[in-house]
Amino acid sequence: MKNKVIIAMVGFGNIGSYFYKTLLKNKKLIALKTGKIPIIKYISAKNLKKNRKTKIPKSKWVKNSLSLVYLKDVDIIIELIGGSEGMAKKLVFSALKNKKHVITANKSLIAKYGDELSKIAEKNKVNLEYEASVAGGVPIIRSIKQGLIANKISKIYGILNGTTNFILSTMEKSGKPFNDVLSKAKKLGFAESNPVSDLNGNDAADKIKILSSLAFNKKISNEKILVEGIQNINLVDIIHAKSLGYKIKLLGISEIRKNKLVQRVHPCLVVKNSYIGNIDGVLNAIIVDGFPVGRSILQGEGAGPGPTTSAIISDLCSILRENINYPFGVSSLLRKRIQNFDISNHICSSYLRIEVKDIPGVLSSITKNFAKNHISIKNLIQLPDKKNKKADIIIITHENLEKNFNKLLLNLSKNNFVTQRPTFIRIEKV
Ligand SMILES: NC(=O)c1ccc[n+]([C@@H]2O[C@H](COP(=O)([O-])OP(=O)(O)OC[C@H]3O[C@@H](n4cnc5c(N)ncnc54)[C@H](OP(=O)(O)O)[C@@H]3O)[C@@H](O)[C@H]2O)c1
Repeated sequence: MKNKVIIAMVGFGNIGSYFYKTLLKNKKLIALKTGKIPIIKYISAKNLKKNRKTKIPKSKWVKNSLSLVYLKDVDIIIELIGGSEGMAKKLVFSALKNKKHVITANKSLIAKYGDELSKIAEKNKVNLEYEASVAGGVPIIRSIKQGLIANKISKIYGILNGTTNFILSTMEKSGKPFNDVLSKAKKLGFAESNPVSDLNGNDAADKIKILSSLAFNKKISNEKILVEGIQNINLVDIIHAKSLGYKIKLLGISEIRKNKLVQRVHPCLVVKNSYIGNIDGVLNAIIVDGFPVGRSILQGEGAGPGPTTSAIISDLCSILRENINYPFGVSSLLRKRIQNFDISNHICSSYLRIEVKDIPGVLSSITKNFAKNHISIKNLIQLPDKKNKKADIIIITHENLEKNFNKLLLNLSKNNFVTQRPTFIRIEKV
């Protein structure tokens, strides 16, 4: 690779503009560490007429983003657009096909097309780097591929979405309801104006799919996985959980069980004083269990321009150092498909909040539903609301199968005493 390395970047929003400024500022440091001088020669975005805070010489702007992949002098394309389809997809596929190194921060693109893209990158002996796509400034991807290379990983899990962690921990600390805290998160810039994919768990699901593939050396699973978000978490559940010694966290969890892949994203009750239970605010934390390392934990800022730029520059340095490697750590030819574990056979204990009419006979009717589904109760608390003639029944169960909990929820929803869909949250041993 020549001494001066030419970069074309597409996307000059939150991340793109911050990355541009930071690279200019840290150019000498990067040159010192890599022996190469990175030069951003071309920049493209959707609307070139937009008034931007960061001023750029006119000569750098290119109208047709896709044309960049055909320029002979371009060594690296950085995609900072987002989304699994449209321009981001076209750009990354054609850049790799045209033998350009690619850096992307785009989790949805990698979760959906990572296998196809890595095949092209490997064939053309160029890098496909995507450290910023999972957990922002937490260097989990490079850690799995390099620092933890010696390990047979058995489980990887953690808090992969800072927005939802901020919402849940702020609800717990402030005692304010979901919608108030969501508005605060938007004001502080911790939630996007449209935070649907954060709240419904899809953002964390893309990330856990990428991590599973890296950790277990398998193709990215395209099977449907269990994904539940935090939209239905009520302040009362957070308060009840706290009084029982738990916190509620949205976790992404992946492990191999009986040669099958168990991948899931859902709110979990975790013991209040556990490591994960103490990760609050916008932080991300990822735990890797492996042999021989034992347990390894990485924690840090999961999003935002600073942490994301840190990850993008580490990808850039990897390319500048000519550290060409397989995008998923091992050759695409050796990464096999793995079947998903049948989640209905997953075993856990659980928390249920059942809102019922406050009249005689309710409790025995509810406990009959549990007995019918062979689910035994560990703790039961009844909280009457005399004024509204209703009561909350809080139940912690012993361990049971997911399919039995599903049947129980169905029975409860048909029970005439039950006034609302019960809240069901799995308890996770962490
Ligand atoms: N924000 C974070 O904290 C964070 C963290 C980790 C990863 N990421 C990832 O980083 C990427 C960028 O995120 P962001 O927050 O910077 O998004 P953003 O602020 O919305 O910026 C998107 C950029 O893409 C450009 N763009 C959109 N459609 C385009 C098209 N068809 N052709 C060319 N350019 C197009 C936009 O152009 P205009 O400026 O002209 O509108 C804008 O500059 C995404 O993949 C995101 O998932 C973000």
